[in-house]
Amino acid sequence: MCGIVAYIGRREACPILLEGLKRLEYRGYDSAGMVVIRDNQLDIRRAVGRISALEAKINCELDGSTIGMAHTRWATHGAPIERNAHPHCDASGRLALIHNGIIENYRALSAYLKTEGIELESETDTEVLAKLIGHLYQGDLADAVRKALNEVRGTFGICVIHADHPDMIVGARRGSPLIVGIGNDEFIIASDASAIVQHTPQVIYLEDNEIAVIRRDGTFRTMTLDAAPVTKEVSAIEWTLTQLELNGHEHFMAKEIFEQPESLRNCLRGRIDTAEGRVVLGGLNGVARELVRAKRIILTACGTAWHAALVGEYLFEELARIPCEVEYGSEFRYRNPILTDNTVVIAISQSGETADTLAAVREARERGALALGIVNAVGSTIARETDAGVYLHVGPEIGVASTKAFTGQLAVLSMMAAYLARRRHMGHRECQDYLIALNEIPAAIERTLALSNQTREIAARYAKANNWLYLGRGLQYPVALEGALKLKEISYVHAEGLPAAEMKHGPIALITEDMPVVVIAPRDHLYEKVVSNIEEVRSRGGRVIAVATEGDDLMPRLADDVLYVPKVPEPLQPFVTVIPLQLLAYHAAVQRGCDVDKPRNLAKSVTVE
Ligand code: AGP
Repeated sequence: MCGIVAYIGRREACPILLEGLKRLEYRGYDSAGMVVIRDNQLDIRRAVGRISALEAKINCELDGSTIGMAHTRWATHGAPIERNAHPHCDASGRLALIHNGIIENYRALSAYLKTEGIELESETDTEVLAKLIGHLYQGDLADAVRKALNEVRGTFGICVIHADHPDMIVGARRGSPLIVGIGNDEFIIASDASAIVQHTPQVIYLEDNEIAVIRRDGTFRTMTLDAAPVTKEVSAIEWTLTQLELNGHEHFMAKEIFEQPESLRNCLRGRIDTAEGRVVLGGLNGVARELVRAKRIILTACGTAWHAALVGEYLFEELARIPCEVEYGSEFRYRNPILTDNTVVIAISQSGETADTLAAVREARERGALALGIVNAVGSTIARETDAGVYLHVGPEIGVASTKAFTGQLAVLSMMAAYLARRRHMGHRECQDYLIALNEIPAAIERTLALSNQTREIAARYAKANNWLYLGRGLQYPVALEGALKLKEISYVHAEGLPAAEMKHGPIALITEDMPVVVIAPRDHLYEKVVSNIEEVRSRGGRVIAVATEGDDLMPRLADDVLYVPKVPEPLQPFVTVIPLQLLAYHAAVQRGCDVDKPRNLAKSVTVE
């Protein structure tokens, strides 16, 4: 998604804005731009491609100004060319705007502007908004922004500056995050805390349909689109700058794969009472009774979070004996869902900003359901709009391919399932055993990370394969989906995850020796069935890479490669079986020379639908 950063204060804006853009690079983009106010004029630079291309165009020529904005664009309307890069200006060329989101009625607004004699230079929806604000501007910048936004349908996170007002930045949001960092005689506004945290931990989160007017003299006011004043509380960003650095790793994805033992310990800390055999989730205290009486749970998410939800479905049904179903956010929001009494909707989202998942939350709440969030980004929109929830506390996840957030989501779902089971039918002893095993998962993952070299060799051996199949049964089916997604999204190799039994209903026709088949075959109640599936693959000349439980001496006779993972209780096996698949995808992408942390066309947080 687009990245937004703006600055007003006592220091030079340009270096702060460039650094901010680099912090936002992981969000994914295809062009970038910057604008400062200097000598009563706007000074704009824009470039296609990486931040370095913009930096080359700036060449310190924008120095000397203490107010400016910068933007990385992830194209939604208009090709990724310089003309379409932000910022965009009004007809006078004295107002500049940067935007994250989609103006859905931009065509109607564009037609109106044409009747007013205002022509557009780009193919973007953003320029329409800039021209509209400029057209409504009569000296009061905040009022012009507010009036224009009242005409907009769609989503926006915007910052606006005007050469007539070198001491002011106006920000506003609907559906795309905007955070105001309150520094020492300075403000940094951004779409993501990672661009703010090195300057100040003190932030204010704008809500939908709120406008912020930020002045150099340190005054700050917020209002609604109806001009009603709004009082905002100051929060603290919980992440540190160190957590946003590579710390010696070549990529953030590698760092995040290898920090999973620690990130999971942080996630579990203070929430598991093995002595009492209970789970403590403070965020659910206010809704515990309603949650325990749930007759049905709907898990809604996108991408990797949706795969975690599929694991959650097994856990809620197996452990808590509550009927559970899983819905893509994008499907749930448009499906006219039936939400009977005692239905609880749980949204899972690392960023807490995914537009489809957020829309599903709003749909659920509008229909009267209790809506909970399992989110990593503290203070994110989904975290603030759900009735209650549980944070992952795995730290910022920078790599576009989600890894530690996935195991963090599994951990929270495992705890929530035990939380409910213990309050419904699970005995003290049974819950104690389960929680003791859960507490040992970080150490089990630590051991599993030793597979890195073997997965690197396997990735090299199959470097020429352009199609992979991932098979798993039961709890390992979502893991197969996740393994396939990891490979395809960072190495651009096609991969498909399937329930192992489904292979014979069609995909088995694809089996050749050129198509590696990853089979997740831990010792569980479906092991013998999976062994049969491996035989089916081999009898057709397929090559098998098996993920198996340590001590399984049959698997080496069946598979070309065996990746052994520690023996853990069946409900917890996804924690360890996913690790070799994360490593395999990582090494494949590195060997193919792909941009591991910023894969093409992808964004870390999809804040548009
Ligand atoms: C996962 O590797 C992908 N980057 C993507 O599928 C991601 O999981 C999805 O966009 C959901 O993001 P969220 O968890 O922030 O809502």
